[in-house]
Amino acid sequence: MIAIGNDHSAVEMKREIIALLGDMGLEYTDYGATEETSSDYPVFAARVARAVAKGTCELGIVICGTGIGVSIAANKVQGVRCALCAEPFSALMARQHNNANVLALGARTLGMGLARMTARTFLEASFEGGRHARRVEQMARLEKGENIE
Ligand code: RB5
Repeated sequence: MIAIGNDHSAVEMKREIIALLGDMGLEYTDYGATEETSSDYPVFAARVARAVAKGTCELGIVICGTGIGVSIAANKVQGVRCALCAEPFSALMARQHNNANVLALGARTLGMGLARMTARTFLEASFEGGRHARRVEQMARLEKGENIE
């Protein structure tokens, strides 16, 4: 199950990403805005982030104008590693190396084709573990206020 959420600036891009999820045979829960009237991106980012942190959804996608606001907000939720990506290579690395569990996209900075390709890459990739697992663990300890040096 994939969690998706967006503010008013990303209603159209959300529809495109939902179409991609359909093409990929993935189920989703839509936690986002459905109208283009002004809305607050932290609310939608938090819904997606909490669904992923709780395990209700395996991965999440959050979209706002730049992707910046939703990525900052999602990363406030413990257990969430949200990566703002503007191209597929970063999306691949975000999964393989950082074990990112939420992808942030910018609806005003990315064309639909690039957003789709970036999201597909993120959804198809998996965490490589190994040396990367130690670093992801260090980030989890940082989140708890522990010393990692
Ligand atoms: C909304 O105008 C805009 O600020 C929001 O979508 C996002 O880009 C924030 O980071």
